[in-house]
Amino acid sequence: MKTIKILSACLLLLPLASCTQMQYKGDAVTEQKVEALLSKMTLEEKIGQMNQISSYGNIEDMSGLIKKGEIGSILNEVDPVRVNALQRVAVEESRLGIPLLMARDVIHGFKTIFPIPLGQAASFDPQVAEDGARIAAIEASSVGVRWTFAPMIDISRDPRWGRIAESCGEDTYLSSVMGAAMVKGFQGDSLNSPTSIAACAKHFVGYGASEGGRDYNSTFISERSLRNVYFPPFEAAAKAGVATFMTSFNDNDGVPSTGNNFILREVLRNEWGFDGLVVTDWNSAREMIAHGIVADDKEAAAQAVNAGVDMEMVSYTFVKYLPEQIKAGKVKEAVIDEAVRNILRVKFRLGLFDNPYVDEKRPSVMYDESHLAAAKRAAEESAILLKNDKEVLPLKENIRSIAIIGPMADAPHDQLGTWIFDGEKSHTKTPLTAAREMYGNKLQIIYEQGLAYSRDKNTAGISKAVSAAQRADVVVAFVGEESILSGEAHCLADLNLQGAQSELIAALAKIGKPLITVVMAGRQLTIGKEAEASDAVLYSFHPGTMGGPAIVDLLFGKSVPSGKTPVTFLKTVGQVPLYYAHNNSGRPASSHFKPLDQVPLEASQTSEGSSSSYMDVGVAPLYPFGYGLSYTTFKFGKPQLSSKELSGKDVLTVTFDLENTGKYEGTEVAQLYVQDKVASVTRPVKELKRFTRVTLKPGEKKNVSFELPISELAFWNLDKVKTVEPGDFGLWVGPDSQTGEEVFFKVVD
Ligand code: GLC
Repeated sequence: MKTIKILSACLLLLPLASCTQMQYKGDAVTEQKVEALLSKMTLEEKIGQMNQISSYGNIEDMSGLIKKGEIGSILNEVDPVRVNALQRVAVEESRLGIPLLMARDVIHGFKTIFPIPLGQAASFDPQVAEDGARIAAIEASSVGVRWTFAPMIDISRDPRWGRIAESCGEDTYLSSVMGAAMVKGFQGDSLNSPTSIAACAKHFVGYGASEGGRDYNSTFISERSLRNVYFPPFEAAAKAGVATFMTSFNDNDGVPSTGNNFILREVLRNEWGFDGLVVTDWNSAREMIAHGIVADDKEAAAQAVNAGVDMEMVSYTFVKYLPEQIKAGKVKEAVIDEAVRNILRVKFRLGLFDNPYVDEKRPSVMYDESHLAAAKRAAEESAILLKNDKEVLPLKENIRSIAIIGPMADAPHDQLGTWIFDGEKSHTKTPLTAAREMYGNKLQIIYEQGLAYSRDKNTAGISKAVSAAQRADVVVAFVGEESILSGEAHCLADLNLQGAQSELIAALAKIGKPLITVVMAGRQLTIGKEAEASDAVLYSFHPGTMGGPAIVDLLFGKSVPSGKTPVTFLKTVGQVPLYYAHNNSGRPASSHFKPLDQVPLEASQTSEGSSSSYMDVGVAPLYPFGYGLSYTTFKFGKPQLSSKELSGKDVLTVTFDLENTGKYEGTEVAQLYVQDKVASVTRPVKELKRFTRVTLKPGEKKNVSFELPISELAFWNLDKVKTVEPGDFGLWVGPDSQTGEEVFFKVVD
């Protein structure tokens, strides 16, 4: 039996972090160049570097500002000819010739679109995240983009919040690993390679906890929760050498991130040693007026720059008001110098002074076959098999006809998901086009939309869909969300399928044919009723350009689902927030749950409940975090521990057998969870600490091992110290956050 040793995904990143760390700490040559240039700059030129505008088309107008040295960065210009024209003004006509930093939101692909980040997280495969980012960087840099505002690594535990789509989900460790992998992909082995683009850890910090799941809303996260839950993915990105950070829109505990000295200076600079640049979010400096912590633009400029912001996105208060704020003594020029150092350092690291221009003559790299293949693989690994009764999947060889039904079966725009500026729907391969291309000559493919789009309430098309389904051996329904229903400012109070989609599924289920429901969405939806009505459910967060071939190959068994839920799926939105790494409370939700209609009339006061639950729906999720089925089955052996007693300096080795007990080759995502049983503050009932994908042939068994340094069990405790406290720990290895035999070990002083 083969033994495979799994180093932590983070450990795998360590070599990169350490070499990047050295370069990252500001190598002497770059620092000399920065100082030499800074010493020549006027105050206006310094402040100009701190100013970012969004391209508004008028080249002459922008060129005038650039020539004056009033602009340091431009976002949303992706025409290489215009990029070079603007860059030429900066480099050849401005007094000091400082190149511009050209930026774009390249969130999950530039032209070749990958699954939305929430979908990539479902792959539990850092390589998928890294490859997607690398390809996005190759495509984006080919038009002159050298800075992307990604990865978005906000811990997201509220699916009402539309931006959960852009995140890596609810878990601190998963987001840390996936975010660091994306940084590596965007930035490559060296930031000054022409295909590398500066990554941006955003939105710093706590934005995913916006109250009520309403975008831009206030958050109330304690410092302990910041440090134990929300900071780690950003610290991991910093350790991975991320070049930039972006401040978040939210105010946390009364302080907007864009004016928050604690997070931007004390933590980011002083504790983590970050020496890249910090940019505000769009207009978020000025929005501190609406927040009510500054009275006007002038105060906003001072608050942002004194708190630790280096560059202002589009609100222009720095250029307009910092000179007079310096004269008034509200801002020291030394603070400006520090901000400009950070900006120049990133520009030197990107090699912009040596190679400011993009090669306009370079043959297009867009939609390269290898890019499309990587996007297909990502979409395959991101799909989650949530149900497969009677093994209706994979579709059997003997079927002669298939009915493809639903508003998401042939939705080339919506399949791409949120935050798409440059991907073209004309390149999208939908499930319908893929099925026709791949099986049109073998199968009768009957297609009916049923509904025109996901919000369509017009049920007139359902009868045609039903009659189409009646003519087929098997029915595959494609439902979900139009892409605009998730993403920034697109929040929902109701997570049920929109429009008449639920009626469509119910009508198809009545026919009695095998019904497979495929969901394409930007968040986990409350699909309990539809899942109940379906024989199988495949959840594919908006899967991107190659979602169609990926889903068709999965349906026909050419590839086998391996995705796992990166977020907890809910029975109803009323359960929000519901996540696996929760505290136990003094009255944990017991398994006892009596449905409301079974509660006796005039029941005595203390007869029902007395645990942290809901009388109507309970607290069991629809599907737990880390859950996903395969076409095969796997068996986990009891985890063996290298020791039952370890000190904070030790490394715990956990080994276990994993066997494929089914009929298909498949990949399992083995997950390791830990619980600190007794600590100086309450700790989560479980925390993911390792995961790995293991591919096994039918009957194959492997001995798998995880290395877990005990130092990774550290948390910020009652004494406000990050430390590992001695005591008892529980440990599980299994296929999801709810399964696995618990074993125990002690940490000793
Ligand atoms: C937006 C988003 C941010 C994005 C920026 C630039 O408002 O909050 O994620 O990167 O503006 O488009």
